[in-house]
Amino acid sequence: MCGIVGYVGPKEALPVLINGLKRLEYRGYDSSGVAILTDHHVEVRKSVGRLSVLEGQLKKGAPEGHTGIGHTRWATHGRPSDINAHPHSDCSGRFAVVHNGIVENFRGLKEWLVSEGHIFKSETDTEVIPHLIEQYYSGDLVDAVRQAASRLRGSYALVVASSEEPEHIIAVRKDSPLVIGLGEGENFVASDVPAILEHTRRVYILEDGEVADITAETADVFDLKGEVKKKKAFIVKWDPVQAERGGYEHFMRKEIHEQPKAFRDTLTGRVAPDRKSVKLDELTMTPEKIKGLKKVFITAAGTAYHAGLVGKYLFEKLARLPAEVDLASEYRYRDPILDAKENLVIVVSQSGETADTLAAMRESRARGVHALAITNVVGSSVSREADDVIYTWAGPEIAVASTKAYTTQILVLTLLAVHFGQIRGTLDAAKAQKVLSELVELPQKAQELLSHEESIAEFARKCAAWKDVFFIGRGLDYAVSLEGQLKLKEISYIHAEAYAAGELKHGTLALVVEGVPVIALSTQRDLREKMISNIREVKARDAYVLGIATEGSGADEMKHHSDKVIAIPETDGLVAPALAVIPLQLLAYHAAVARGCDVDKPRNLAKSVTVE
Ligand code: M6R
Repeated sequence: MCGIVGYVGPKEALPVLINGLKRLEYRGYDSSGVAILTDHHVEVRKSVGRLSVLEGQLKKGAPEGHTGIGHTRWATHGRPSDINAHPHSDCSGRFAVVHNGIVENFRGLKEWLVSEGHIFKSETDTEVIPHLIEQYYSGDLVDAVRQAASRLRGSYALVVASSEEPEHIIAVRKDSPLVIGLGEGENFVASDVPAILEHTRRVYILEDGEVADITAETADVFDLKGEVKKKKAFIVKWDPVQAERGGYEHFMRKEIHEQPKAFRDTLTGRVAPDRKSVKLDELTMTPEKIKGLKKVFITAAGTAYHAGLVGKYLFEKLARLPAEVDLASEYRYRDPILDAKENLVIVVSQSGETADTLAAMRESRARGVHALAITNVVGSSVSREADDVIYTWAGPEIAVASTKAYTTQILVLTLLAVHFGQIRGTLDAAKAQKVLSELVELPQKAQELLSHEESIAEFARKCAAWKDVFFIGRGLDYAVSLEGQLKLKEISYIHAEAYAAGELKHGTLALVVEGVPVIALSTQRDLREKMISNIREVKARDAYVLGIATEGSGADEMKHHSDKVIAIPETDGLVAPALAVIPLQLLAYHAAVARGCDVDKPRNLAKSVTVE
């Protein structure tokens, strides 16, 4: 996720762009850059680091001009660096492009462009775009951009400026947001409204496949074939702070709602079109190494540890590979028995900076064990030091409580377990295809589940008075229960504990008395009967039971044994965790709001724990 701003009008473009980018820094902050059109020239300035670093450099000499584009980056392809920062240019330096999204087919396009004589400077997927425009340009920028866009697969929001046609900038979108800000004698474009709110509240919201031709006086919108699209201006009513959160009251709620998109981005290009195999081009481990593995250690902290617990079930089930999951703070000091040849350590970390996780990885690598990192932050310490990295393309997660990072970690672990299972010959083709198909359908199912938010919110408001809550589940549902209880505790400050459902009667059942809330998860078909028995045990003590079950017979049966049921869309048990956790995230969020808690910044907690 990156931030984009563009300007055409009578003002100096640079301050407009810099102020706009400041309002978008939450979308990405590893590097930034601007391109200003000056006297038939494109002046590009860019720098790794926060926007303030670029600002510092611009103090030494700022380009002047009335048309420009700017970008703040959240690295996907290519580490954060000066060269990889946007805008990117073609060979001649006449075309500058800022881009948000992922160009899935950039490798093929790059090979073709190189064979046509184009010279690339960066490691990014984005750089193919200015070279494509250069290739197609024959006196009509809109046409060249349209032709270039029709060659791109994946998601993009892009804005183009050119010294050949300094009177306008061109914007295109597919699966990545863009708004056109309509001013008086000036126009703007941005990936999100906060960037332009100080100038105008009248916007066009660009739809997928639309191309906007923006001058100071006009903003014409076409489809990719050149047909004119009639747009209706939308008046933004949010205040600037609210706008930064896309209209949501809190980043946490925004991030919960971003999960369908985050799922799509994480899966893009990684599941073969026939859904029969996994493509993890970034993985350097050889098939021989994967076949020779005898054990995998998964180590992480907090929510990432809970994702690791899901991973354990998947590796054992699909790849028949014993998996041990450890809290990084324990692993690093417990002198684990490691074998450099036959073991793999997987570290899971949203930030890639958690001190214990980093230390656990260093400890393993020092003993010669291959380390594979699953992280969300390109260029983070974990990603730099690991032998292999697989990114969760969740986009920046701002709220302290992790939501979309957790679910995308689960997706990556599922992809890995299927991949390993296929290479090790432990997973038959039909099962692999079933799991992968279910993964591909997750974004739409998550969307459907989120559409029932209001009924969960209504229930959560009643839960705000709860004091102690128990979560129970078996198998993968137990792993999800652990995450559900952590979410509730950390943002609503309601005391919660999760138990393997079969374990409750070995002690904790003593605390279950009349009215005690028990949240029971049952999404695993083969464990359903056992789970129902455990629910009956707590019901017999007059507990209040909220059941989370899969639509259809699972939810129907749950209704007979619980006080309230939340159904998740029907899916394979192995991919159910990414859906089952969503009602728990919403429950925690709305309970916390009802209790007046500081949802995005819970007391005593920090987003990135870089100390032991
Ligand atoms: O950045 P990491 O994934 O390594 O962070 C690990 C934990 O600190 C983190 O998951 C924490 O538990 C969450 N913020 C809880 O929602």
